[in-house]
Formats: sequence, structure tokens, C-alpha cells
Amino acid sequence: MERYTVSKVVGKGSFGKAMLCKRRRDGKLCIIKQVDTARLGPRERREAQREAALLATMRHPNIVGYWESFLHGARGETLCIVMDYADGGDLYGYLKSRRGSPLPEERVLDWFVQITLALKHIHDRKILHRDLKSQNIFLTMSRVVKLGDFGIAKVLANTMDHARTAIGTPYYMSPEICQEKRYNHKSDMWSLGCVLYEMAALRHAFEGNDMRQLVAKICRGQPAPLPSRYSAALRALVAELLSKDAHARPGANAVLRQALVRDRIGGFLSQAQLQEEFSHTVLHGRVHDAVLPAAAAAAAAGGGSAMGAAAGTPGFVPPAGLAVDDRRAVAAAAALIARPAAAAR
Ligand SMILES: Nc1ncnc2c1ncn2[C@@H]1O[C@H](COP(=O)(O)OP(=O)(O)OP(=O)(O)O)[C@@H](O)[C@H]1O
Ligand SMILES: [Mg+2]
Repeated sequence: MERYTVSKVVGKGSFGKAMLCKRRRDGKLCIIKQVDTARLGPRERREAQREAALLATMRHPNIVGYWESFLHGARGETLCIVMDYADGGDLYGYLKSRRGSPLPEERVLDWFVQITLALKHIHDRKILHRDLKSQNIFLTMSRVVKLGDFGIAKVLANTMDHARTAIGTPYYMSPEICQEKRYNHKSDMWSLGCVLYEMAALRHAFEGNDMRQLVAKICRGQPAPLPSRYSAALRALVAELLSKDAHARPGANAVLRQALVRDRIGGFLSQAQLQEEFSHTVLHGRVHDAVLPAAAAAAAAGGGSAMGAAAGTPGFVPPAGLAVDDRRAVAAAAALIARPAAAAR
């Protein structure tokens, strides 16, 4: 903690307090989340620290970057997670500030695409968000949207479960979580549907006077129809994401494949990022699940150079039985992986 000076406490969330800080070395602003882990045993604390360290390896233009994490306090009981400071406030605050004035569909979709790209990035790397809500989505001055607080719920799963339910109303909780089933990536997709609904309707998809009523609405109710200014395609997407049955809900890759969304992807990721993001899906053996929008496919197929580099990768054999374009994408991805990690960032 000596490396930082605290400017002010910016808020208190479900897991602990968030402080605006300055790094002494270069004066860069950051947010430090402090979480009390005093109730954890040494093994659980190590596990929490390991999880937090994993989060720091995620890099994407649409996610709040984590810098580092460390234990602090006389007995190392406070876990500190250091992350980028998002300077434009959160989506919740922004939607509230509209005072009922609707957002153009274009803007809703542009922000939705960025959130979905962020979710794809973490899901492809087997990380679940677990706390997706408009308060954890940040706007920057340049109107880039960044997803924050991903994975923290898992890091702290053992510490704060009880405190968590006591703070805030879980508007974004999926039907399967209401039924105490296991959290999975489709539970994040439900929350994503709630956020999309909220951007269009400027209110929560499901509300209740108390927990019992909220759970009944989530499990059996239908949200009020979206304003008629929004397209049928956008309404259909909300309905799909809010399918009560988790299996019927699309995953992030399936959402990004939809025409409404797909054609916007190129506007938010550079050619290199597109290649990295969409080749990654291929690499994980889910070739037919891969999105590969036109721009990414072009980047992946980017001529002999990617293939050539991959061909020079020791032990690289493009999987048999794939279409030529898929083989090119895998080859390009192999070339990317052969590069030092730092160069890929
Ligand atoms: N990286 C960040 N950049 C800028 N502001 C942030 C950042 N992280 C959190 N905040 C702000 O700090 C306040 C507290 O955030 P915190 O994440 O602790 O609580 P929360 O989002 O309400 O709940 P949760 O713990 O479920 O995420 C919020 O107002 C939030 O907008
Ligand atoms: Mg938060």
C-alpha cells in the first residue's frame, strides 16, 4: 500500500470499499478495492489471492484493467485489488441522468457490443463475471465502455456470501440462481439481457418490493414491453437473453454472430485485436462456434504471412477436417501464440 496514496473513498460495494488512489511512482490514478479476508483460513486466502492474480492477466479494450493485488494490514488480512480508474462514471449513473429521455438504438447497440466483446473475452478464458450490472459498467471520457469487477465475486465467494445478500437488491440475478442452481456463463448472459433492457427502457427489467416478489418476477414474470422506437431485432435479442431456461439463452459468441451485432464489431477492435479475439475461440476447439466477422476472417486469412509464421511454429499442425478458412484462422492463432505474450498485448 506504500506505493499508493489514497485520495478518497469513492464508494462501498458488496465486497468492501473502493478508493481512488494515486500511484506514487508516476502519479497515475487507480481504484483500489479493499476486502477484509480476516475470516478466511490460510488456504482460502491463498486461493483468493491466486484468483485475483489471474484477473490481472486479462487485457482487453473493453475491460477495466487490473494492475495487481496484494495483502495488506498487520496480519495481511486485507486483500487489495488495484485497477484502472474509469473517469466517466458508471452506466447506471448515466442512465439515471437521462431522466427518462431515451437513448438512440445506435448508441444502445454500440455499448451492448462492447460489453458483449468484454464478456466474450473473459468467458473464452473460463472466467465468469458473476456480478454484471449497470453499476459495474464504466464509461470513459472517450465514450468507450469498460466492464469492471469481473471475477471478484469468485475471488471473494467464501468471504462475503452473507454480507452480499444484505447489500443492494439483486435485480440481475437469473432464474437458475434464484433456484440456487450453479452459476454458469449463461447466468452472466441473463444479466447481460437485463443490462440491454435497462439501456432501452431506462429501468430495471425485473423489480419487486421485496426479495420474494423480485424472485417471483424473475422466475415467472415478463418485463414490460420495450418502447416502440426500438427495432424488432433488438426486442428479439432481449427476449432471447431473458429466456428463463438457461440452455435457450445464447452465449456471448452466438450473440456476436447475430447480424444486428456482428456488423458493429469491427468499429471497436483493431485488426490485430479482432484476429486475437476470434482466433482464440477457434483454438479452443469450438471452430463451429467461432464468430469470425468479415474483418476478423480477413485478418485471420491475411495471406501467406500468418500461415507461414504458423508453419514455422514448432509442433504446429493445423487440425484436420476443418474448412480452409478455419484452418487459416487456426494457423493465424498459432502464430499469435508463438509470439511473446508482451508483444500480443
Ligand atoms: N474502476 C473504477 N473506476 C471508477 N469508479 C469505480 C471503479 N470501480 C468502482 N467505482 C465506483 O466506486 C463505487 C463503489 O464501487 P463498488 O464496485 O465497490 O460497488 P458496486 O459496484 O456498487 O457493487 P459491487 O461490489 O457489487 O461491484 C461505485 O460508485 C463505482 O461507480
Ligand atoms: Mg462494482
